[in-house]
Amino acid sequence: KRRILNREEVESMNPNDETCGDRKPLPMSQCALRSRNPIREIVDNLVIPTPPEDKPLILLSIGDPTKFGNLKTPQIFVDAICEAVRDFSSHGYTHSAGIPAARAAVAQRYSYGGSKLVEDDVIIASGCSGALEIAIKALASEGDNMLVPCPGFSLYQTLMESNNISAKPYNLLPDQNWEIDLKSLEDAINEKTRAIVINNPSNPCGSVFNKQHLLQILGVAERHNLPILADEIYGGIIFKGSKFWPIASLTNTVPVLSVGGIAKEFLVPGFRVGWILCYDNNRHDLSEVWKGALKLTQLIIGANTVVQPALKTILTPQPGSKDAKTLEAFHYETSKQLEKNANFVADTLVKVHGLKVIRPQGAMYSMIGIDTSVFDDSISDDVAFSQKLMDEEFVFVLPGQCFGMNNYFRLVLSPPIKKLEEACSRIAAFCEKHRL
Ligand SMILES: Cc1ncc(COP(=O)(O)O)c(C=O)c1O
Repeated sequence: KRRILNREEVESMNPNDETCGDRKPLPMSQCALRSRNPIREIVDNLVIPTPPEDKPLILLSIGDPTKFGNLKTPQIFVDAICEAVRDFSSHGYTHSAGIPAARAAVAQRYSYGGSKLVEDDVIIASGCSGALEIAIKALASEGDNMLVPCPGFSLYQTLMESNNISAKPYNLLPDQNWEIDLKSLEDAINEKTRAIVINNPSNPCGSVFNKQHLLQILGVAERHNLPILADEIYGGIIFKGSKFWPIASLTNTVPVLSVGGIAKEFLVPGFRVGWILCYDNNRHDLSEVWKGALKLTQLIIGANTVVQPALKTILTPQPGSKDAKTLEAFHYETSKQLEKNANFVADTLVKVHGLKVIRPQGAMYSMIGIDTSVFDDSISDDVAFSQKLMDEEFVFVLPGQCFGMNNYFRLVLSPPIKKLEEACSRIAAFCEKHRL
């Protein structure tokens, strides 16, 4: 029986005592119990040491490009947001799928040849995470499954399991630039499969699929009559020699929901604005799913409205205008800086005995392989490698197991090059010290 406690009873309670006398805490809900982030389970068990003054900790673990202050969103975006806030036009509730002008701007920017979008084909969500949650819940029900990349971004699994949808992994092949093992993809499909999730460019791999490979993936989807849920949030960060093909631009027959957002491309993960794009090629395969997605936007009555009016400025500047040139220069500079960092890390670590480098083609990460057979017993796997590297050299990288892949580690490429130089030299010294 619950009753209201009096003041003395409350004051005598020890907040550290879980039972608070004879009262048991209320149980956690099943949905909350199922909501687990595999990264946290690994990272929370890593011990972060206190570094000496002359060797500060270098954090290469968090995919937040604003962390180091070297990469900044363009001023025209900041100005457009400030203007929208000052004119009071976007302070109220809006359509739960987003401000019409913002949806229209996103639709215009992500329309391709035969795959045209209109405002109604766009949902503005609370970050790409919010977009993924809506898309997953609209496509699958309890007991269904979706196919997810391994190694892959762990949020897919977290969102699915929280909703009693299982995440079935398919393999990526490190020796083929992290392309999908198509056999493993096809083998994972069963009668409960509701979609194939792809992430291109990839977190954690930094890979960018070529056109031919995307057509092969579409072939699998077509054969099994499955839609594709494409996470293309890194589509704007591509290095020289690679080209990003939005998967929806390559098909007239496979239905595609593409999710993305401004977090990475515009260096503003805290702004929490993302989107879902529905490419249904007028075949209405996704008509019911899309109605469901729109219903799901009502759960939180839409995303933050402060940033939405400014999307037009950054996504659809007048071709040839000053804004268009500023944005072009911004994109060029950001990708160039990340590419320079990626190449520096690859060129440096490729010389380190025991490490395997696969040169990134885009995004902001590199997955480096660890050959444990050339290291002493203390480096038994990627988790031990990451913990020891932190203990001895104060460099924090994420073990591959956080992404479902043993004996790799992921590092972020967004810090200033000086930090990466220091980090790589510490990693090289660490590997040399533990070499057999
Ligand atoms: C592949 C991928 N998808 C989605 C997200 C989530 O993006 P947002 O911050 O917009 O929720 C991230 C963030 O790291 C990501 O790496």
